[in-house]
Amino acid sequence: MEKREELYAGKAKSVFKTDDPDRFVLVFRDDTSAFDGEKKEQLNRKGMVNNKFNAFVMEKLEAAGVPTHFEGLLSSTESLVKKLDMIPVECVVRNISAGSLCRRLGVEEGQELNPPTYELFLKDDALHDPMVNESLAVSFGWATADELARMKELTYKVNDVLKTLFDDAGMLLVDYKLEFGRSGGDIVLGDEFSPDGCRIWDKETRKKMDKDRFRQGLGSVIETYEEVGARLGIEFD
Ligand code: C5P
Repeated sequence: MEKREELYAGKAKSVFKTDDPDRFVLVFRDDTSAFDGEKKEQLNRKGMVNNKFNAFVMEKLEAAGVPTHFEGLLSSTESLVKKLDMIPVECVVRNISAGSLCRRLGVEEGQELNPPTYELFLKDDALHDPMVNESLAVSFGWATADELARMKELTYKVNDVLKTLFDDAGMLLVDYKLEFGRSGGDIVLGDEFSPDGCRIWDKETRKKMDKDRFRQGLGSVIETYEEVGARLGIEFD
C-alpha cells in the first residue's frame, strides 16, 4: 500500500489517497481546535495519542459487531481506513447532561439521562452544526430513513459497548458523537472515537478527562487523555 496525495485536511486529521481506490490513510495531527475552529493550538503527542486511542476503540467496536472503517495502524499517527461515502449528519448520544444540551435547555450539567438521549446535527462548520432531525435529513436527501434507523441502532450499540468499557475502568461515558458513511450498501462507522469527540468523567471525582479540558482551559489536556488510555490498557509511544 502506497500513500499518495492529500485529499482533505480537517481541523485535526488529514485524509490521504492510496494506490488502492477503496482505502485512505488517516493522519492524526497535533492540531487541536474548539468552537468551530475559533480556538486553536498544537498539543504535543496528541496525534499519536488519538490515533492509538481510536485504533483501540474501533477494534473493540468491530469485535462487538459494529462495522467500522478502521483497518489497522500504519504508524504512530497514521491509520488505514476504508473509503466511505460520508453522511453529513452527526449522531450524538448522551448518558449525562453536559455541553450544548445544558446551554440549549437551561438544565444543570451532570443529570443522569435515562434513557440516554439521541440527537442529530448537520455537519456544517459555517452554520455551527445546527441540530436537525430525521424528517429534515430524509427530505433534504442527506440519508434515507433506513440508513438513519441503522445509524441510530449502531450509535446505541456503541453506547452499550463503551459505557461498560469505561465504567470497568472507573470512568463515566457522558456523551459522544459518531459519524457514519456508506460502503457496499452497508452503514459503517467512520471518523474517529477519541477524547476529542466524547466526554469522559472520573466516576468518583467527576474530573473532566476529555476535550472539555481544552475548551474550558483546564490544562493537562494530553496528559489526561493518556490517563484515560492507561486506565483502558492502551499502550502509547
Ligand atoms: O457540544 P455538544 O454537547 O452537543 O457535544 C456532544 C458530544 O459530541 C461531545 O462529546 C462533543 O465532544 C461531541 N461533538 C464532537 N464534534 C462536534 C459536536 C459534538 O465531537 N462537531
